[in-house]
Amino acid sequence: MIEPEPIPTPITEMLGIRYPIVVAPMFLVSTPALLEAVARAGGIAVIPSLNFRTHEAFEAFLRDFPDLPFGVNLILKDNPRLTEDLEAIVERRVPLIVTSLGDPTEVIERVHAYDGRVFSDVVNLRHAQKAAGSGADALVAVAAGAGGHAGTLSPFVLAPWIREETGLPVLVAGGLADGRHLLAALALGDAGYFGTRFIATHESGASETYKRMLLEAGPEDVVYTPEVTGVPANFLKASLERFRAGGKPWKEVFSAGHGVAFVREIEPAGRLVHRIAQGYHEARRHLP
Ligand SMILES: Cc1cc2nc3c(=O)[nH]c(=O)nc-3n(C[C@H](O)[C@H](O)[C@H](O)COP(=O)(O)O)c2cc1C
Repeated sequence: MIEPEPIPTPITEMLGIRYPIVVAPMFLVSTPALLEAVARAGGIAVIPSLNFRTHEAFEAFLRDFPDLPFGVNLILKDNPRLTEDLEAIVERRVPLIVTSLGDPTEVIERVHAYDGRVFSDVVNLRHAQKAAGSGADALVAVAAGAGGHAGTLSPFVLAPWIREETGLPVLVAGGLADGRHLLAALALGDAGYFGTRFIATHESGASETYKRMLLEAGPEDVVYTPEVTGVPANFLKASLERFRAGGKPWKEVFSAGHGVAFVREIEPAGRLVHRIAQGYHEARRHLP
């Protein structure tokens, strides 16, 4: 495929990337190889610091990762590694941090000091206003139907609502899988935030069983339940049945959002980024 034309938005400008395609942090799924493939194709991907089993492994990743755009996700609540992982982030001057669960004020101060950017995950207006008040550079609107700890509001409402109320750029998360979704996301906000669709890539850390289950599942096989982590999240029904029989959370219970509807192929992540960008341009040309 010829490299699709760039898609400039306030988010691509802020991050120095070609397409407003942000591949979301996914526990045990995001890998350094996924980050690299997405960045080389013109997007950016984010990895949870806790995907590295120790702080030392996280530091080694930061040392070895090439000079490309990438992001790290920090869980702010009940995270015993937060202080040391943040120190390493500041030292490496990681270009993008995505915060979830908790008050981002300190992270924002430390990251802004070296001119990095901080996005905060939010599921409602109250969280959005708090993150905006703390100085976040953009908000991730985690809507209903997202993989992981999804919100309950429709993306049609959450994204433009928090954008109007806070004046910040907004990334739209929840069910995005192709170029039509990116076009819709840019009508409602400033970038697409893609999780589930990228589980089914060669570079993701998901097992073959997990990837195959995604190909077979439809959106009606996604169950929103607090029973795995105590907070409502979306999981594939077939894997939940295994959890109920004694399986481990996340490792054997597979999270996915409604976007499984459009997971039809396991492919290289860079090609997927280009297909989404290409699909965006085609969908735009076909608008009435
Ligand atoms: C398997 C899986 C693991 C996730 N782990 C995290 C995580 O560690 N931190 C986080 O902020 N969000 C996590 N999420 C949520 C994603 O970052 C993102 O908000 C969501 O996947 C977007 O919706 P989509 O899956 O419908 O594209 C996870 C999602 C999935 C599917």
